[in-house]
Amino acid sequence: MNKPTKADLLANTVEHIDITAIDARPVVDAYRHTAFQARNLARAADIYSMMLADKECAVVLTLAGSLISAGMKKAIVTLIENNMVDAIVSTGANIVDQDFFEGLGYRHYIAPGSPEAPVVDDMTLRDLAIDRIYDTYIDEDELRECDDTMRKIFDALPPGAYSSRELIDAMGAYLEEHHADIEGVVLACHRKRVPIIVPAFSDCSAGFGIVLHQMARPEAGAHVAFDSGKDFRELTQVKLINPSTGLLMLGGGVPKNFAQDIVVAAELLGNDAPMHKYAVQLTVADSRDGALSGSTLREACSWGKVDVVHEQMVFGEATTTFPILASDAYHRAAWKGRPERRFNDALANQPVAN
Ligand SMILES: NC(=O)c1ccc[n+]([C@@H]2O[C@H](COP(=O)([O-])OP(=O)(O)OC[C@H]3O[C@@H](n4cnc5c(N)ncnc54)[C@H](O)[C@@H]3O)[C@@H](O)[C@H]2O)c1
Repeated sequence: MNKPTKADLLANTVEHIDITAIDARPVVDAYRHTAFQARNLARAADIYSMMLADKECAVVLTLAGSLISAGMKKAIVTLIENNMVDAIVSTGANIVDQDFFEGLGYRHYIAPGSPEAPVVDDMTLRDLAIDRIYDTYIDEDELRECDDTMRKIFDALPPGAYSSRELIDAMGAYLEEHHADIEGVVLACHRKRVPIIVPAFSDCSAGFGIVLHQMARPEAGAHVAFDSGKDFRELTQVKLINPSTGLLMLGGGVPKNFAQDIVVAAELLGNDAPMHKYAVQLTVADSRDGALSGSTLREACSWGKVDVVHEQMVFGEATTTFPILASDAYHRAAWKGRPERRFNDALANQPVAN
């Protein structure tokens, strides 16, 4: 292959799967009578439909890994727009570097070759300012624009400490004003008043934006800051407002534990908080490595976080399992008549002053 140009390498865009155009119900019905992860996936899909049919239950979606850059954005937006998700806990990469980034008009690109055998060497990519996530490319110059847009959003806010939810809602308002025609998770949540909480908000493009913002305004009380305690308090409030909850977890990591811990926090506040009534996790991690990402949902029961009646782990990479589960739930339509919960509006009225 001749030395490729940047335009050569950034030619084929990642396209987002439309779960409304694919009906996965027959696949799930067939999987139900098989074994191993196929049967686990069918059971997980059934539990997700159960959560949606249970009108008392609020659904918390957790996201880790690189899901938006991998074509999962439209599926998640479908869940948001149809009241199939009431709150989101995510890593910053999914929400800022990937979803907000695409909301600004930028795209992710299909890299030639496979993650195991990339065709273009990474030094060439470095020279061209192309970043690689396994088999996906990103234009690094566009990522710098994303960092700078984050700085501008922070510059425009009154100084003070904010939860990630408040800042992500401000990002949604920015997209509504400047790019209202581009579909995305941040914009859909802003419109549907679904809170997005990113517990490690500095560990993404928002981190670059806040460094630029704070260094330009170093005086005490002159800049925006991230209030991580408020993140946890706000998600706990969701549990207090709506005690019956279910978890749909894509990947593990910080979002998995953060979303599970709200049961304990609500209990510490003296509430009779029930464990998460339903829990599904789609993950590649298993219990061999001793880490949180692969710890079983049954183990979470010992901590008082997840009930063991309706829980299912599915071991598989989420870009293969999630579209099937989401399409099945969309077409079974247990979400029809489910109320819009608009927790973002309720959380704006905080019981604790800033
Ligand atoms: N992922 C990225 O490309 C990226 C980029 C920039 C910054 N970051 C930051 O790094 C931190 C860690 O985030 P992370 O997203 O890499 O999480 P992570 O790698 O910690 O993921 C947690 C776990 O989720 C599971 N998982 C991840 N992707 C999966 C998939 N596709 N299918 C099934 N299971 C999957 C794995 O078990 C993984 O160990 C965050 O603060 C994030 O903002 C991540």
